Amino acid sequence: MTVVVSVDSWHPDPEAIARAAACLRAGGLVAFPTETVYGLGVHALDRAAVARLFQAKGRPASDPLIVHVASTLQARALSATFSPTADRLAARFWPGPLTLVLPKSAQVPDEVTAGLSSVALRVPSHPVALALLEAAGVPVAAPSANLFSRPSPTRAAHVLADLEGRIQMVLDGGRTTVGVESTVVDLSMDVPRLLRPGGVSREALVAALGDTPLQDAGPIRSGPQLSPGLLERHYSPRTPLTTYEGQAPRVLERMREDAVAAQAEGRRVGLLIFDEDAMLAQIPGVLAARSMGPSTDLEAVAAQLYAALRDLDASESDVILAHGFDDVRGLGAALRDRLRRAAAGRVVAC
Ligand code: TXA
Ligand code: MG
Repeated sequence: MTVVVSVDSWHPDPEAIARAAACLRAGGLVAFPTETVYGLGVHALDRAAVARLFQAKGRPASDPLIVHVASTLQARALSATFSPTADRLAARFWPGPLTLVLPKSAQVPDEVTAGLSSVALRVPSHPVALALLEAAGVPVAAPSANLFSRPSPTRAAHVLADLEGRIQMVLDGGRTTVGVESTVVDLSMDVPRLLRPGGVSREALVAALGDTPLQDAGPIRSGPQLSPGLLERHYSPRTPLTTYEGQAPRVLERMREDAVAAQAEGRRVGLLIFDEDAMLAQIPGVLAARSMGPSTDLEAVAAQLYAALRDLDASESDVILAHGFDDVRGLGAALRDRLRRAAAGRVVAC
């Protein structure tokens, strides 16, 4: 049975936090809100508990976990070398949606890092996550609290939809604010490399890095993985999704044509759109249309994206047509990345 404990996201009840922390220390699986998405936490130094986590999520053991800690000091203890670059990025972005990959210390079990010699570390900024990490007093390995390959959870209800009965506890702190996962930067090699775009923008990283260059991981590939999270089709709704990228008028025209054609073939259409695309929802016979918010407010859109994908997935549409992200400045890069993964390669350039 999964116990759901509601907490105020700004002033979490210390008793609720203490209960969740005790569960973690005892090897339990506890889902909790972070500023990005809900994480499924487990005592990172408890190998048996880590094994239970992989099983509960249905996650392949080859996919390493992010270890969450309450402070940079605690992060240092888990890495073999905390470089000056790591110091600089930690000072600028922690607590917050940035994950640093560093050479691991002997303390970190191989089960957590999937046998890699590096470990991913993050100090989250959500008050519930920070309070839990402080109370637990141990590092907490936490992937997103979804079943493997489902969209990440941004609400406690999403966690329960995927994991009810498979985990001990959910701390329900309401909706997460950022809505897409942390940015992952690999600092284990000579040149920092951006492995996953996320809540901290590339521009902000570059500004903080100063003269130190930042490499990109390159386009989505399905071959051998630098980081398993780069796997194409990682964040996927069950319904086939196509993303349309380009100038808005062309995108809307093409989406309309394809929606009409799909319906003519008897397929039920769901639309993932922006507020200003509302006219598309008026195409006769469209089964479901879900807005992500105004295209001019990417923060609002990021906060809605995964909930919108889950809603459409539940709508019994046979296909989802999505208005994609053309501009990769700021959060645009992370949003385009997630939608392209959800599309598993079905990207239409308009
Ligand atoms: O925002 C987030 O990062 C959320 C919250 C819960 O903190 N967590 C999250 O975890 O998204 P997960 O497991 O869904 O994604 C972890 C990412 C994957 O892309 C994984 O491959 C990468 O981090 N990663 C972990 N350890 C790594 C390592 N040693 N080297 C390279 N990539 C690593
Ligand atoms: Mg995940």
